[in-house]
Amino acid sequence: MTSWWRTAAIYQVYVRSFADGNGDGVGDLAGIRARLPYLADLGVDALWLNPWYPSPMVDAGYDVADYRDIDPTFGTLAEAEQLIGAAHAAGLKIIIDIVPNHCSSDHRWFQEAVAAGPGSAARELFWFRPGNGDQPPNNWTSIFGGPAWTRVADGEWYLHLFAPEQPDFNWANPKVREEFEDILRFWFDRGADGVRVDSVAVVVKDPELVDFEPDQPPYPHPYIDRDDIHEIYRGWRAVADEYGGDRALIGEIWLPDPERFALYLRPDELHTAFNFDFLSCPWDAAALRRCIDQTLDAHAPVGAPATWVLSNHDVVRHVTRYGRADTSFDHANRQVGAPSDRALGTRRARAAVLLTLALPGSAYLYQGEELGLWEVDDLPDGMRQDPIFARTGGADPGRDGCRVPIPWSGTEPPFGFSDGGTPWLPQPAAWTTHTVEAEDGDPGSMLTLYRTALRVRRDLALAETPMRWRDDLPAGVLGFDRGDVTFLLNLSGRPIPLPDRRILLASDAIGGELPPDTAVWLG
Ligand code: GLC
Repeated sequence: MTSWWRTAAIYQVYVRSFADGNGDGVGDLAGIRARLPYLADLGVDALWLNPWYPSPMVDAGYDVADYRDIDPTFGTLAEAEQLIGAAHAAGLKIIIDIVPNHCSSDHRWFQEAVAAGPGSAARELFWFRPGNGDQPPNNWTSIFGGPAWTRVADGEWYLHLFAPEQPDFNWANPKVREEFEDILRFWFDRGADGVRVDSVAVVVKDPELVDFEPDQPPYPHPYIDRDDIHEIYRGWRAVADEYGGDRALIGEIWLPDPERFALYLRPDELHTAFNFDFLSCPWDAAALRRCIDQTLDAHAPVGAPATWVLSNHDVVRHVTRYGRADTSFDHANRQVGAPSDRALGTRRARAAVLLTLALPGSAYLYQGEELGLWEVDDLPDGMRQDPIFARTGGADPGRDGCRVPIPWSGTEPPFGFSDGGTPWLPQPAAWTTHTVEAEDGDPGSMLTLYRTALRVRRDLALAETPMRWRDDLPAGVLGFDRGDVTFLLNLSGRPIPLPDRRILLASDAIGGELPPDTAVWLG
């Protein structure tokens, strides 16, 4: 039997914004548990939950203070175990999120390291260095903006590739390796079916901490994708394999080179990784075809299944991206203030999910995309919580706009997200037409399209069938066969004639022709 992670449709639950069970305005485990029937009915196979650990929440939980417990805002460890059990009973796998590159500055190890002082074994678990007088030890900058070093009271500096409250672990230290293998076992023992591994490619640093020279060739890079990183994930794979072979490790790997990317997916490393090339790809037939080919070509030699992703909690929602003049995505330029045609973006998003779910491999759906939610780009500055906003002096608004709580029901905020609480980020009034309740049963809604597409994909075992491009199509039309099913996506800007075949599913109303920005599955 095919392993579940090879073909699964996986729904990303952004815990603090999914459903609030205790009325404090922040999503939690009780909220997720109450909504499991919705998720099972949607037709997904697995849930990926963003970090749920105790955390000061400087980076929305990616600053972990204790890897073996649950933040009280979200619930308790007992509730997490119950949630895993209830999800399993509803036929859903659970993927948790583990953050190996850094912890929170509140983590016991970091607190001990600061207290223990220079030269201590406790400091060896992190990257503490004396620095050069008043200057940090090297020129690295934080991915969130500003320097990658912060000074402690005794004058030493410590490294943080992200916020100062996220000190980087020293993965050259065997104690760090043992600790994380033990954390993996802790969660596998509690029934987790998979682990999403955060920031996979940056955990190993050049031991000399050499300066970053932007004009030099990309490799070796002082901290990205270093050759000796792979043995770490081989160790993780060995742990996953102790559990009968069906626990999956899924990498968050942003790397431009598809061959370097695929090295992480060799048979004794991670099982799959997010396909960010696909997410970043512009809405263009040639570019999409190139991306799909490159993805499949890179995965084939290592025997790993491809994944297909349109959105997540770090990127501008794709309804908004696809409605812009430039439909690509780039972290370095989030196109702040670029106008977006929502109707066009929605039309394309409908076609895009049919493409995503027609491709071979597994697919990731980010909560709210099944409702057609867009990026909320007019949040008041005072409410923005992403550290990117403050660390870039407001130049980059950060990622809060895709993290706004889900609208479930009713005609005004909090739209059933919370019973009595004020959502931690304000929801647009216009979401009144985008609640689950409003879309449920509406044949033209995004929700109905997702439900139908997921059901048909599952019934046809579409994700498992090999794929063959069709080369008999007009320019600008993307098309391929999966067994008896044909997929067509019209990106040519003009309607094209449809073959005389049974329509299994179309992204919008169609007559005898396939209009632009429309996709269809033909049986
Ligand atoms: C990953 C997460 C992101 C987080 C960062 C630091 O990229 O997806 O949300 O801020 O790692 O942990």
